[in-house]
Amino acid sequence: MRAVTREGLPPYLSISPDTALAELGDPTTTHDFANIAEACARGRADLASRGLQEGGQKTLRLFSTWEITKYLIPVAPAHFRRVLKSNPDLPQGSSETEGGAKWFTLDEVLRLRVYFASEGSKAKEYRPYRPATIPAKMVAVANFKGGVGKTSTCAHLAMSAALDGYKVLVIDLDSQGSMTSIFGGKVTDEWQTVFPLLARHYASHLRRENQGRIDRGEAPHPIDDTLAEALKTSSRDLIQSTHWPNIDLIGAQLNLYWAEFQIPVWRMQGRSWKLWDALSDTLAEDGVLDDYDIVFLDTPPALGYLTINGLSASDILLVPMGASFLEFDSTGRFFDMLHSTFQSIEEGENMAARALGREEMAFEWDAVRTLITRYDGSQQAELAGLMQAYLGPTLSPHWQGFTALIGQAGEQVSGIYEADYRDFNRETYVRGRETFDATYAAFKRLLVGIWRREELEQQADGPAEPQASL
Ligand SMILES: Nc1ncnc2c1ncn2[C@@H]1O[C@H](COP(=O)(O)OP(=O)(O)OP(=O)(O)O)[C@@H](O)[C@H]1O
Ligand SMILES: [Mg+2]
Repeated sequence: MRAVTREGLPPYLSISPDTALAELGDPTTTHDFANIAEACARGRADLASRGLQEGGQKTLRLFSTWEITKYLIPVAPAHFRRVLKSNPDLPQGSSETEGGAKWFTLDEVLRLRVYFASEGSKAKEYRPYRPATIPAKMVAVANFKGGVGKTSTCAHLAMSAALDGYKVLVIDLDSQGSMTSIFGGKVTDEWQTVFPLLARHYASHLRRENQGRIDRGEAPHPIDDTLAEALKTSSRDLIQSTHWPNIDLIGAQLNLYWAEFQIPVWRMQGRSWKLWDALSDTLAEDGVLDDYDIVFLDTPPALGYLTINGLSASDILLVPMGASFLEFDSTGRFFDMLHSTFQSIEEGENMAARALGREEMAFEWDAVRTLITRYDGSQQAELAGLMQAYLGPTLSPHWQGFTALIGQAGEQVSGIYEADYRDFNRETYVRGRETFDATYAAFKRLLVGIWRREELEQQADGPAEPQASL
């Protein structure tokens, strides 16, 4: 594109009104939005169908012996091959050419990991640390600034935790549904999102309130069709499996946005409804936390009711931001808003608690960290250093680098862990992978430290329940 016209004038000084009019087209009506949306949907369906398995499923690539022994199961390649050879029952992988490198599905890698964990050296970490008696951890990735890397960070953390051997549930709270696309989720309407869980929580509250109303001789509030339907929905009805054997999903789509309008209406009617507890309570009631090690929540770029639910459900809160003035500035204001939002909830609750002589409540997170994303060392070192100086340990020590691998991945491949390293320049691949591995490592240090803290607390309190075998 030339920045200067033939006459040497800048391009904005030589526009003929008649030519501009001829190019313009008719004014846009509401109906045209539908046409544009339809064109996008057709293009998207075309892209999404390329390279899909029959039945429209996404598939996960295979993993080579090189990658497994370098990144996933810490043994020497020769030892790995020897163990496979002497155990013909273990997955043997497949090769593209006679005698070529062996490739394995992630399912096979997970089975091999279990084998090495039971037979291999006890000094090595084949399976990641997770104390058996401590519940899964919920991790929210949030910032009301858009495009700061929330979804990319959340998806990569979920995938690296899965490669590391954890069982992961991803919950998409963003009606844009990016996370859902990444994991190939199929969501037709709000009834396959978290919406019915939030509705169920409100409906249960309403039923309890109504009991009180009936006892006092007052008319109960009606339980409408939506609420009655929600009362029948369990989290397990919403969880779908993905092309990752150890990542499940509760997806999102556009209609989930409706929750932002519906929740305040419910709250007006049921003033004592603890809307911020809706997600954590329903997931806990349904026993979801027993089935997973880590639950990741991707949130929309707004501090709405869905985000508040996600934040209040989370044990670990990660706030991504780029090392730019605008993102730093806006993230500061996001924390300001978090402070006033959660403080006002606490004040409202504690006023009632004091009046009733009940214990006061306070929100608490195991850890809150900001993290720098898309870091470009050649331009942003000074600003990132300044941010680190001001935020200290609240800023995660690893600055996630900008990498071309993220943008380059195709429509079927989301990010670094799904991409085949042979498709990239080796150095680009290694650098991109290193920075996301380090992002995961910084997160895992938090997770492991938190679990250990709870394990030690539990040991100090004595065993939670008598061991069946004793
Ligand atoms: N480390 C990275 N290197 C290069 N590009 C990146 C990196 N992380 C994210 N991006 C790109 O930045 C853009 C925004 O990322 P992402 O969608 O993760 O942000 P988000 O905060 O979830 O956005 P939204 O607020 O819309 O939900 C995307 O185009 C993504 O591919
Ligand atoms: Mg996002």
